[in-house]
Amino acid sequence: MQAISVQSAQGNYDIDVGDALLQSVGAVIAQKIPKARVVALVVDQAIEHTWAREVAASLQAAGLRVVTHVVHASEENKSIAQVEKIWRFLIAQRVQRSDVLCAMGGGIVGDMAAFAASTYMRGIATVMIPTTLLAMVDAAIGGKTAVNLPLSSDALDASLSKDLQTNLPTHSSPNLAKNMAGTICAPAWVVSDVRTLTTLSAREFRCGLAECVKHALLADESMLSWLETHREGLRAMDPQRLVELVHRSVSVKASIVSRDEHEQGERAHLNLGHTFAHAIESLMHDQIHHGEAVSIGLVAMAAASQAAGWWPNADKFQISKRLDDLGLPVRMPASVDREQLKNAMKLDKKGQSGAIRLVLLKGLGRPGVLDVASEHVINAGLDAIGA
Ligand code: GLY
Repeated sequence: MQAISVQSAQGNYDIDVGDALLQSVGAVIAQKIPKARVVALVVDQAIEHTWAREVAASLQAAGLRVVTHVVHASEENKSIAQVEKIWRFLIAQRVQRSDVLCAMGGGIVGDMAAFAASTYMRGIATVMIPTTLLAMVDAAIGGKTAVNLPLSSDALDASLSKDLQTNLPTHSSPNLAKNMAGTICAPAWVVSDVRTLTTLSAREFRCGLAECVKHALLADESMLSWLETHREGLRAMDPQRLVELVHRSVSVKASIVSRDEHEQGERAHLNLGHTFAHAIESLMHDQIHHGEAVSIGLVAMAAASQAAGWWPNADKFQISKRLDDLGLPVRMPASVDREQLKNAMKLDKKGQSGAIRLVLLKGLGRPGVLDVASEHVINAGLDAIGA
């Protein structure tokens, strides 16, 4: 097992990464949160009858009462209505301030269940048990919790001007303002058992790899060649390789969020390639998954970094080939209107007053923020992905 510590103003916490960790979840919670009597397991329905059962058995064996609430994970369901259901469930099960909520599944369930926990009785302890690669290396780390808001509800229609509505970030679903309500609340513990990755689809697994490449570009150059060397081991789900992959990638994000928990500066670097990616997702939401858009976005980012004069020899690092070798897309899967794509980039929540803001590289491991990207820089990125 590998352990990584995250610094947080609300209390430091550990991220444990290993193989076959689920069976000890109960014992660890009993030791870390000794006052807890009840554990509310909020779980993605995709793993309700598999991995969640293992966790429930482990919690019961540790003398904890387990109550389970199942969620169907979708962007539409990542809503305040579903959070209210979780709150009501917690009340009905008499979950107390000293008890624990375990959020188990991918990023959607993690974000939403952790939001419910961070607000129920003004906050109860949360344990994150991510079961997708994307959630292990990104969503479950750093304490961000959130729900989406519907753009079409009467309440929003009545209270928001058209202008404001069109300036909300929508990313993967055109009728949702993504992650518009949320908190930053440190979990008590994060536990990633790589065995859960073996039941993911190949596509879902690859989506997580895109975020691993992003982390490698940000702060772990040698991981790029490691990914190449161990491609087959990863494809074969070799547990040792998976633990190393998750551990290295988590280490990058953990050190960034430890230095900048509330995104006052450096945490924004985690959006490398994401202004392109979010725009691609918003236009192609039914054809593309987040990790795939991130892969294409990283190719655009490299070309834009070169065009900006920040990274003159970006070509040499063959980012597009590396992503392609991992089975990730590196060009737009279908043609889109370039002006529409640029408009979507302007609406990305990281942009200020109509300018397109990009996180670019000055070299491997040297990210920076270009606050106002010129047409030349943006076009170079879009040319590189065939947009
Ligand atoms: N996913 C970006 C962040 O956690 O800040």
